[in-house]
Amino acid sequence: MCGIVGILGQGPVADRLLDGLKRLEYRGYDSAGICTVHDGEFDRRRAPGKLVNLAAELAAHPLPGTSGIAHTRWATHGAPTVDNAHPHIVGDVVLVHNGIIENFKPLRDELLAEGREFKSQTDTEVVAHLIDRELGKGFKPREAVANVLPRLHGAFALGVMFKSEPDLLIGARLGAPLTVGYGENENYLGSDALALAPLTQRIAYLEEGDWAVITRAAVQVYDRNNDPVKRPIVNSGASGQLMDKGNHRHFMQKEIYEQPVVVAQTLRSYLRPLEEQVALPDMEFDLGSVERVAIVACGTASYVGMIGKYWIEQLARVQVEVDVASEFRYRDPVLTPNMLGIVISQSGETADTLAALRHMKAAGLTTAGIINVPTSSMAREVDLLLPTHAGPEIGVASTKAFTCQLAVMAALAVNLARAKGKLSPEEERDIVHHLQEVPQAMSNALAHDGEIEAMAPKIAAARDVLYLGRGPDYPLALEGALKLKEISYIHAEGYASGEMKHGPIALIDDSVPLIVLAPSGPLFDKTVSNMQEAQARGAQVVLISDADGIAQAGENTIATIEMPKVHPLIAPLVYAVPVQLLAYHVAVFKGTDVDQPRNLAKSVTVE
Ligand code: AGP
Repeated sequence: MCGIVGILGQGPVADRLLDGLKRLEYRGYDSAGICTVHDGEFDRRRAPGKLVNLAAELAAHPLPGTSGIAHTRWATHGAPTVDNAHPHIVGDVVLVHNGIIENFKPLRDELLAEGREFKSQTDTEVVAHLIDRELGKGFKPREAVANVLPRLHGAFALGVMFKSEPDLLIGARLGAPLTVGYGENENYLGSDALALAPLTQRIAYLEEGDWAVITRAAVQVYDRNNDPVKRPIVNSGASGQLMDKGNHRHFMQKEIYEQPVVVAQTLRSYLRPLEEQVALPDMEFDLGSVERVAIVACGTASYVGMIGKYWIEQLARVQVEVDVASEFRYRDPVLTPNMLGIVISQSGETADTLAALRHMKAAGLTTAGIINVPTSSMAREVDLLLPTHAGPEIGVASTKAFTCQLAVMAALAVNLARAKGKLSPEEERDIVHHLQEVPQAMSNALAHDGEIEAMAPKIAAARDVLYLGRGPDYPLALEGALKLKEISYIHAEGYASGEMKHGPIALIDDSVPLIVLAPSGPLFDKTVSNMQEAQARGAQVVLISDADGIAQAGENTIATIEMPKVHPLIAPLVYAVPVQLLAYHVAVFKGTDVDQPRNLAKSVTVE
């Protein structure tokens, strides 16, 4: 995961490279670096930690040069130190890398045996040595790279430059995204179209195994067999503007607050209010023929999949399996004809989910993707793209992407149910009405921000926090726990409320806050019984429910958060708001880095 930018420019490139890195910082922020070629020499600045450190280094020691490469790192091999920061220089070669070279150990041993010395613990430096070794054998830079690429196993994207050829930039892609940007007497390389947006909108996406030889005058792409190929140049449509926080203190806060608008925006493209129907984009297959569904995703997106299972099975009576993507391929799942494979991803680049998508396609499944970034690898590879219209999500903790994914999942479940003949027009009309209520209900939920902020210090003092939910609110309990742990670093777990008594109840004492998600409805009484079992053992309960639920069960809680009364189907969308706000305020109270929590990255492009 790491971000790459390269520029062959007409003027100084350091500032533009830094700007490109700012757009890629979502991919990792363990360290960053830039190297230019200037007067026949490499000139490099690197700094550990966030990009501001590199910016300060550049301000103190400006970097001349009209061609260069840059990198922001999410550490895989080696601690986030200056020595391990990219770009890595070996002799005439400078290199940046995103991903993992899986066979780096035998390659490193081979190079060590030849007396080569390593300055870092990274897998990346091995590649720079291998290319340098080929140059030493008399190969030209292009041939040297071509000779080395087949020796590398794993999933990676590379950017390479040479001291002796400042007008040459080589990019290579295998399993990690890489784009070539076309300018006016300038050309570029970037991990995504967004990184290059202020430089150019004319983009070519490299395909698996491709490598590109870039000069200021021309770009030539080769496939994995080294045959010259043409990749279409498209208009990326990516915005060149850097996102700002508006009046908000953090991107996460801004994104939580955007939800009524972006969910409404997303629903608008799936609802036909006049016909009171739900509609998906045109597709080349018959939803009615779907007999089973496999949903694959990671993290927060996987909880959307779990909620989707409840909805699809209940409404369409079609069997659904949900897997976290990192497990899917390796458990050798039974994939049968007439099975629809669904991936869910904000970035559309998550390596595990992308690999699962390819696995499903190879098995002959028709695939659909609920994806936020329309130019992403997944968006380009699914048979049916079901876009979310959340807009760029910058905070590492996913919030608005989650609720927009739920909105699309609901539309998909309804369409499937109709296609399977399981939903009458009246039932569909009812659901359309409930979905239309979501944005307003979310706004009502946001109005409780102040109360939630007030209870944050109590939760922030806890060592462990448990979340309980039943039915579709069980995955939301998992999401609540994930949100809290990733930004506040407090240990938190989510449980199906009925599971509590099968083990986790042993953790309960009066120091453990228990966040209970319980909209009134058919499952309410059962959840409340589980909550009371925990209260009897001293649990500090925060009950999130509607007025009826709170009137019935709000006693003996440390706090209640009153949600508007909503249909159980849409409750996960609305109840997501207090869950996100709680994590947010606890993290702010603790003083953690809310938007860029430690050890995480927004887009996880390694397995
Ligand atoms: C959520 O807050 C996460 N940071 C993480 O779990 C994320 O949802 C996951 O990595 C999947 O990412 P994607 O949606 O971009 O595929």
